[in-house]
Amino acid sequence: MKALFEVLQPGDPDFELAGTIDPHRLPKHIAIIMDGNGRWANRRSLPRVAGHRAGVGPVRSTVETCARLGIDVLTLYAFSVENWKRPRAEIETLWRLLRFYLGKELPELQKNAIRLQAIGRLEALPPKVRAELEAVIEATSHNRGLRVNLAINYGGRMEIVDAVNGIIERARLEGRLDALRVDEESIAAQLYTATSPDPDLLIRTSGEMRISNFLLWQIAYSELYVTETLWPDFNPTELLKAILEYQKRDRRYGGLSREGLNGARPDREENLIEAIVSSR
Ligand code: FPP
Repeated sequence: MKALFEVLQPGDPDFELAGTIDPHRLPKHIAIIMDGNGRWANRRSLPRVAGHRAGVGPVRSTVETCARLGIDVLTLYAFSVENWKRPRAEIETLWRLLRFYLGKELPELQKNAIRLQAIGRLEALPPKVRAELEAVIEATSHNRGLRVNLAINYGGRMEIVDAVNGIIERARLEGRLDALRVDEESIAAQLYTATSPDPDLLIRTSGEMRISNFLLWQIAYSELYVTETLWPDFNPTELLKAILEYQKRDRRYGGLSREGLNGARPDREENLIEAIVSSR
């Protein structure tokens, strides 16, 4: 977090906000569904693509803030398998913006030791986009700071299907198909995100209460945070607020909170259940 305070001044509202964050309980992995670009543009009577263009700034500031905070992994949902249903011109603008981002951002990624990776079926991307993406992935592969996963042509169900097919194919090649058993570990190890921890915090902008086929397997125990803010308006203040809210959550992973454990009286609860059952 020290690096964040280097760019914040006392009196700056983000300085006060950052001061209330516990540096020892930061989420290791933040995932974001960047939504609301179209509505942002509509509200200004602009074409939808203007919303996507305005969405590049928040991508840059979010990456920078996560790097300064010392977050390990940031996964951004940039293009879903369902997004191919959009008008061709809109899709082409999205590819142009991605190429613009990659071209402009490389020196900044290198300066901050940020490693770029991509998750999704990249083979379906236009060849130039794929080549530029792979070049930046390769150029930053030695960086050991924040890891940024761009989800591009990504679908959560498709990822699970790909993982299971990968397991079957490997077993077939190794001649052990008959004895094949699939378990949680073997699936997790075949996901596109196999080398990242599961997200601790999933943020969605624009107020929609949906997961939209994003990281279906990995978000089993993620804390969800939905803000009404549209993606082009998302800024470091919004990110810090989401992290603060995350730090207030009691993550139980299906177990009991400390409070719940202290208050539990199994002897009494059993008696109570017996009493209810026998009174029927
Ligand atoms: C969802 O808003 C957003 C997208 C489908 C694209 C996200 C793209 C960017 C933020 C710009 C560039 C990205 C990178 C990585 C440089 P929407 O169009 O569904 O908005 P709506 O729900 O209001 O219509």
